[in-house]
Amino acid sequence: MAANSQVSASAKYTVESVNLGGLTLLKGRVKTHEVFGLSNSDLVPGKYEGGLKLWEGSLDLVKALQSEVKNGNLTFCEKRVLELGCGHGLPGIFACLQGAAAVHFQDFNAEVIRCLTIPNVNANLSEKEPSIANVTGSSGEVRFYAGDWSEIHELLPHVKGNKKDQSHSSGHSQVAGYDIILMAETVYSISTLQSLYELMKKCTSHPHGVVYMAAKKHYFGVGGGSRRFLSVVEKDGELVLEYVQNNCKGII
Ligand SMILES: C[S@@+](CC[C@H](N)C(=O)[O-])C[C@H]1O[C@@H](n2cnc3c(N)ncnc32)[C@H](O)[C@@H]1O
Repeated sequence: MAANSQVSASAKYTVESVNLGGLTLLKGRVKTHEVFGLSNSDLVPGKYEGGLKLWEGSLDLVKALQSEVKNGNLTFCEKRVLELGCGHGLPGIFACLQGAAAVHFQDFNAEVIRCLTIPNVNANLSEKEPSIANVTGSSGEVRFYAGDWSEIHELLPHVKGNKKDQSHSSGHSQVAGYDIILMAETVYSISTLQSLYELMKKCTSHPHGVVYMAAKKHYFGVGGGSRRFLSVVEKDGELVLEYVQNNCKGII
């Protein structure tokens, strides 16, 4: 299901700032019970997958991206970016602020996209600091998608072999796929590791596409984690792995 760009009025959205190594971003807050009728649950598999909470991995990821940009290892300028399992979407928002040509945000729940991701993107892009505004120009294309990782490739525009792939008509690149994929705290569940990895492979542009992910080594109680995910990646052998500040960068 693709989320349209309408913001939901059913849940109250409040905002506070978060300082990430000198960069101030805004993080919205929406009550889980107002959106899903759930009380303070982190997630309910198959119904609500935790997107309303801001997980610390996304803060770590933004900090790692900042230092990658500062060290000259990474640029978002003119790049097509996909954030998987976005929730608040702070890594994708950072990509917007850094001048990405397109940033596509994906979450399992359309409710999360409507009640949180879209207001959060709007808040950050309209309130950006002048110094950052100079870097970016907020003219990049921003789109939102909701759905399961096992199916969402059918909706995403820049997927290899997808009829919707606009690589040849966009003028940005003749290469299919996304230049940069971002994801934080997405590998907690053993049952979705394979579909997430298959999606990553379909979406990453070859040969220069990169995936930046931040995750815990192990998620107690659910069994997934970066160790299990990286063993899926290594077994398949198509990705080259590098570690960036305890986070992992996979390069196809
Ligand atoms: C733990 S939350 C992390 C949210 C955000 N990245 C952060 O760090 O704050 C996991 C995210 O992955 C998404 N997700 C989990 N399982 C999914 C699935 N099977 N298909 C699509 N998205 C999924 C959820 O919707 C949610 O946004």
